[in-house]
Amino acid sequence: MPVDDPGTAAPLVPERPTLPRLREAAAGCRACPLWKTGTQTVFGEGQAQAEVVLVGEQPGDREDREGRPFVGPAGRVLDEALEEAGIDRRRAYVTNAVKHFKWQARGKRRIHQKPNAEELAACRPWLDAELSVLRPEALVALGATAAQSLLGRSFRVTKQRGVPVESDLAPHVLATVHPSSILRAPDDEARREAYAAFVDDLRVVADLLAAARR
Ligand code: URA
Ligand code: SF4
Repeated sequence: MPVDDPGTAAPLVPERPTLPRLREAAAGCRACPLWKTGTQTVFGEGQAQAEVVLVGEQPGDREDREGRPFVGPAGRVLDEALEEAGIDRRRAYVTNAVKHFKWQARGKRRIHQKPNAEELAACRPWLDAELSVLRPEALVALGATAAQSLLGRSFRVTKQRGVPVESDLAPHVLATVHPSSILRAPDDEARREAYAAFVDDLRVVADLLAAARR
């Protein structure tokens, strides 16, 4: 592939996708350079019957090692908040906008680096294929990277969080902050507030799901 070829995972997506087929195909993806830095493809996880899909940015250090999304510190915050908001974790599918871990060494630590527009675009066919199989009632973008990738570059999480937006991606779509932003809050009080606001946004989703079931 020429160095300036933008790359896309599209040709790798199976014609009649199922979650297991997608996972298997994505495991061998080399559509962008991130396969070299990541240990493995971290595909989405959850049941095909999931009613809500939550999309993060990319796997973190723990996720990269374990091969599963949201199993590290951010995942713990997410799990707790989902429970508190009344969203059944078993009916939620979690995935990421980019499926390999992008990082830079700092001493012995691997510091997360934001995926760029080319990497997001290259990986997008996997997310689109997941959504085409899952057809969730609700879609939640976690953080600015996922939100801007799914809802457009002009989307501002700070201004538009927790508010359902019109989108072809699912009947109900909204964005909120990334759970790792809660962990980065400067002190306990800020962390409590950030967490409560995150749970409030997820409650909007819980209410939409409850209404859809009636
Ligand atoms: N942060 C993400 O965006 N995704 C994960 O899977 C873990 C941390
Ligand atoms: Fe493929 Fe996505 Fe990994 Fe890039 S980040 S190699 S597009 S799975």
